[in-house]
Amino acid sequence: MTDPIERAPLSRHDEKEAPSARFEPAGFTHEAASTLSSILRNAEYECAKRIPQSGGNRWYSEPIRLATYAAGGVNCWKESPCQNLYSGMLERSKGLAPVMLFDLFFFHRSVARDRITQVIAEDELKILEEAGVLHITGDDVASKVRCYPVGELYFLCDPSRDKSDFVYIGWDSDLMVDIAAKYSKGRRFSRSLDLCTGSGVQGICLSRQAEEAICADINPRALAMVQANARLNKIRNVNTIHSDLFSSIPGRFDCITANTPYVPHPEGAQLPIGGGDIGIEFTIRLLLELPERLTDNGMAVIYTSDPIVHGKRRLISRVTSELGHLPFRIILIPLFTNNYPMTRPMQEHYDRLGLSGYDDCILVIERSNKYTVEQHQNDWLHYYRTRMDAWLDWRRRAN
Ligand SMILES: C[S@@+](CC[C@H](N)C(=O)[O-])C[C@H]1O[C@@H](n2cnc3c(N)ncnc32)[C@H](O)[C@@H]1O
Repeated sequence: MTDPIERAPLSRHDEKEAPSARFEPAGFTHEAASTLSSILRNAEYECAKRIPQSGGNRWYSEPIRLATYAAGGVNCWKESPCQNLYSGMLERSKGLAPVMLFDLFFFHRSVARDRITQVIAEDELKILEEAGVLHITGDDVASKVRCYPVGELYFLCDPSRDKSDFVYIGWDSDLMVDIAAKYSKGRRFSRSLDLCTGSGVQGICLSRQAEEAICADINPRALAMVQANARLNKIRNVNTIHSDLFSSIPGRFDCITANTPYVPHPEGAQLPIGGGDIGIEFTIRLLLELPERLTDNGMAVIYTSDPIVHGKRRLISRVTSELGHLPFRIILIPLFTNNYPMTRPMQEHYDRLGLSGYDDCILVIERSNKYTVEQHQNDWLHYYRTRMDAWLDWRRRAN
């Protein structure tokens, strides 16, 4: 769940201050939603996910970035020392519009007004400014939201993490949408529930397979963002509930998704990401209630972590101790390995618990006739590359 964008410079063109007032999702009107959606759609905004962030010095990763670019994949959560090369290639094949809009709405850079008006008309600028999406000062236009494309949908979230109630989207959100779609392919749901919904990215994507889709979160700002995103994508079967896990949500569901807070973190962690001391405490709380919240054919897709404590992975043993007596099929999908943390307080926290790192992973849970656990691979090349990076990092620290 690391997001290098937080460390990236604000603007390639000129490093201006970010607009001070926050985007208020409740002020995102239907008119603003349909204006923004048509600007993004006409520009084929989604193709710009192929552009990496600027930064980093891992030249050895460039062949992978280039191959991802050529395949139309997602590079924008990764850094590259030669971002301009990718922007230039995309500009030649798709024109200026997606590159400029991605600068504005994803990389959070201000763009000169006379340039942006080549892709956003003056009356559209005014609508977006009035809805609090854009901040226009003199000749500069900046965005107060980040916009991330997923399939043919768009999702607004906060561009910075400076407030504790920020609404999150990361690479994990995108990966989870793909995996949930793969494991729920061909299924229709009467009721679906996206817990820990954040921007609503999982819940809104799945709402297309559901009659009623509920998105729930403990953060009221997240719920307002879900409603803004439902307007942006003209989705009408989504309802939001303010809830601490299942506490305020009635009934059972055919599909439950949750991209949980799963980062190992001592008490008092930032609201959206801290999952407890070793990272899985929140997930275990969720699993305890899951059996009575799933319908007889129900399934769950849960993004969590697999902590390595005293050299042993802990997730499956904890899941089995909670659910092992029930007839469930558990599928573990490891995604990537995270390095030992960089900051001194987190190093002390890890050392105190004997924690040496964790995998990001997804659990798919279905009813079955007996309890089984299996492991599926998502992108083994990426998984083993990140394991090697973590091992090299560990060797460097040990020397
Ligand atoms: C990692 S974010 C995931 C957001 C979104 N689903 C995604 O994939 O981008 C975790 C979310 O869990 C929410 N959350 C944290 N504690 C919660 C709780 N006790 N009950 C419900 N939601 C909670 C946070 O507010 C945050 O929106």
